[in-house]
Amino acid sequence: MGRKHNQAGAETGGKMRLRKLLISSAILLALTPVAGQAQDAEELYRERTCIACHGAEGRTPIMDEYPRLAGQPAKYLLLQMQAIKSGERLNAHSVAMKNVMHLISDAEMATLAQWLSDLPEQE
Ligand code: HEC
Repeated sequence: MGRKHNQAGAETGGKMRLRKLLISSAILLALTPVAGQAQDAEELYRERTCIACHGAEGRTPIMDEYPRLAGQPAKYLLLQMQAIKSGERLNAHSVAMKNVMHLISDAEMATLAQWLSDLPEQE
């Protein structure tokens, strides 16, 4: 009887250790330093579909009517993203982009604006 109890105890201990491990991994990820930020921005840019219209590193838009983003001032880029998201900047082309802007938070817009701005205008 005592043995059975111990086994159950060992199992619970194992689960707790696993949970602790998962929690510390999550904390480590959250604490990943700013060095990883460029990578995160690039990933965001791909994941949130920006790349589909504005091209790799915001330099090769799919249509001549679509803007290049690389190397423009971060503040300008951020303001335009906000204006497109809110509908303040609205035309036949910006509507396409407005449709994906629910995918992205204010903080992510700022990260992307900074990353795009830091990229060279020409390759
Ligand atoms: C479906 C196509 C499409 C997608 C997806 C898209 N955009 Fe755009 N974006 C546009 C178009 C078109 C414009 C220009 C709209 C206009 O003519 O006013 C634009 C404009 C911009 C501008 C303003 C540029 C300037 O010079 O004024 C920024 C910044 C921008 N997009 C960033 C992004 C980011 C970041 C993402 C991803 C979250 C994204 N876009 C996703 C099509 C898209």
